Amino acid sequence: MREGNAVRTPVVLGIESSCDETGAGIVSGGRLLAHVVASSMDEHARFGGVVPEIAARAHLQAFDPVVREALAQAGLGMRGIDAVAVTTGPGLSGALQVGLAGAKALAYAAGVPLYGVHHLAGHVAADTLEHGPLPDPCVVLIVSGGHTSLLLVRDLVRDPILHLGDTVDDAAGECFDKVARVFGLPYPGGPAIDRAARDGDPRAVAFPRPLSGSKDDPYTFSFSGLKTAAARWAERHRRRGEDIPLADGAASLQEAVADVLTRKALAACRRYDVRTLVVVGGVAANSRVRALAEERCAAAGVELRVPPLTLCTDNGAMIAAVGDLLVRAGADPAQLNVSIDPSAPLEYAALHPVSAPARAA
Ligand code: KG4
Ligand code: ZN
Repeated sequence: MREGNAVRTPVVLGIESSCDETGAGIVSGGRLLAHVVASSMDEHARFGGVVPEIAARAHLQAFDPVVREALAQAGLGMRGIDAVAVTTGPGLSGALQVGLAGAKALAYAAGVPLYGVHHLAGHVAADTLEHGPLPDPCVVLIVSGGHTSLLLVRDLVRDPILHLGDTVDDAAGECFDKVARVFGLPYPGGPAIDRAARDGDPRAVAFPRPLSGSKDDPYTFSFSGLKTAAARWAERHRRRGEDIPLADGAASLQEAVADVLTRKALAACRRYDVRTLVVVGGVAANSRVRALAEERCAAAGVELRVPPLTLCTDNGAMIAAVGDLLVRAGADPAQLNVSIDPSAPLEYAALHPVSAPARAA
């Protein structure tokens, strides 16, 4: 990191391979230098969901070209990389293994430290690449294919991450994916529902708003009942031999999901007197979630931060962003024998033990 007498800002390479996207990104001092993603999504489409074996094999094939392209984008060789960060969980175990093995090899060969990063912390950090450092504290709504959580985040890499609420069953993205399948829409379902909803009436079908009653926990989510309600609605049309009014169904489903997500997120901002809401994860790409969040945040005087679309879905830049924060916080790197944790709970941004000064007691 030393060039002559000047100390150069460390450059961090981030690797993501927890699901069906192989991502490599390069970040230095909070600045995005490269962002490359290869997706095996098309190979899973005919199975209606991600097939773990196919995903792992695709990562193996994509790893090298994706990393090379990221280095080329940044105009760097491995000699210009000061640390490697990699998703070590949660995710598909075979897929995570490929990314971790590759990242270890790169770090070892380059003689630079390795950091194991929690995938969801990556989604949170993605926003910093567009909008700068996160204010302390902020409320973060993570909405992806596997997770739906409302978090109170202080210093992302130093402090423990406080869960205000999580989903008790399906994640919001999972709900979109499963309902899309019943509606006969292609995988992944979220973008397909978003497209189909464009010409629909969001008030056409009165889908339920789960756990939104006055006696319900204000920050806990549930999407399985909504998924079932949408499936039954589609079945009713099918049984009568009618076409499913897809646009109205999709718009109404999207409205229900966006309503519940944003209502709970803003209730958390009010309760904890937080002035910034960050919405991240694949479902943050949803047009209605974004629009309703904007509307409700503006009404409540809360600043809304949503990463640009390409940084919402899985990518390596978001993992590099966490690595960059860890390096700058002076966090301990992982040992080279660090392993994956496919079901890691989100407690800290780094998945390996990190001692002071990076982690406050
Ligand atoms: O964060 P992500 O890329 O991967 C996970 O970590 O899960 O999120 C993928 C999820 C999928 O469920 C996908 O259907 C959903 O994000 N998604 C969307 C949209 N784009 C992606 N859901 C609703 N509307 C979208 N435009
Ligand atoms: Zn993700």
